[in-house]
Amino acid sequence: MQEHKHHAKSSIKFLDSDEILSQLGLKGDEVFMDAGCGDGHIAIKAIQDYVPDGLAYAVDNYGPSIEELDEYKEKNNLENLINIKADITQDIAQIEDNAIDMIFMLNVVHGFKSSGNMGDVIEKLLRILKDDGKIAIVEFRPIEWSFGPPVEIKYAPSELDSIFGRYGFKQIYLNEDLGLEGPEGKSHYLIIFERE
Ligand SMILES: C[S@@+](CC[C@H](N)C(=O)[O-])C[C@H]1O[C@@H](n2cnc3c(N)ncnc32)[C@H](O)[C@@H]1O
Repeated sequence: MQEHKHHAKSSIKFLDSDEILSQLGLKGDEVFMDAGCGDGHIAIKAIQDYVPDGLAYAVDNYGPSIEELDEYKEKNNLENLINIKADITQDIAQIEDNAIDMIFMLNVVHGFKSSGNMGDVIEKLLRILKDDGKIAIVEFRPIEWSFGPPVEIKYAPSELDSIFGRYGFKQIYLNEDLGLEGPEGKSHYLIIFERE
């Protein structure tokens, strides 16, 4: 399968961050991680409105995105926004064990279907996720559409459920009615996992 490149792409123009963040069940003091954050708009919105008493990590392996986020953080005095340039298929040494309440990935994991290393990502995230932590994923529904990645690299929710099941996670939430109106329903779904 051809490698799928998606540096510097943002969902900000076609997905409503409040529609997503309001469904995550955040209380306000959690440690939240936007993994594959791109421009970081979700991490920024999270620290401003959804975890104002917590911490938001914005992590991406694309240096220019993290540099821009550092500038934004400084200009806006967002002390609780921690930007990290790191590859999430590898161990993120800057983050301690059992540190994160929620790991969130928006339009990121189809890239790991394409590269075949979804398992590596989950293994690495296990170390930093608290025992009662959650992993929330927003992805393109697996429908043929000119919009988004090729259909063969879009994960169905059931595929993610079965992959996460192998790592001891169970699905606790699924909303398949998210995003843009498309030829066969909405463009996206939100799925949330926690340990069994
Ligand atoms: C389609 S963009 C989505 C960006 C952002 N989540 C959004 O929805 O606006 C995918 C992002 O994942 C990042 N990414 C891909 N592979 C990664 C990896 N192995 N480690 C960290 N970030 C990665 C890319 O650099 C890119 O910013």
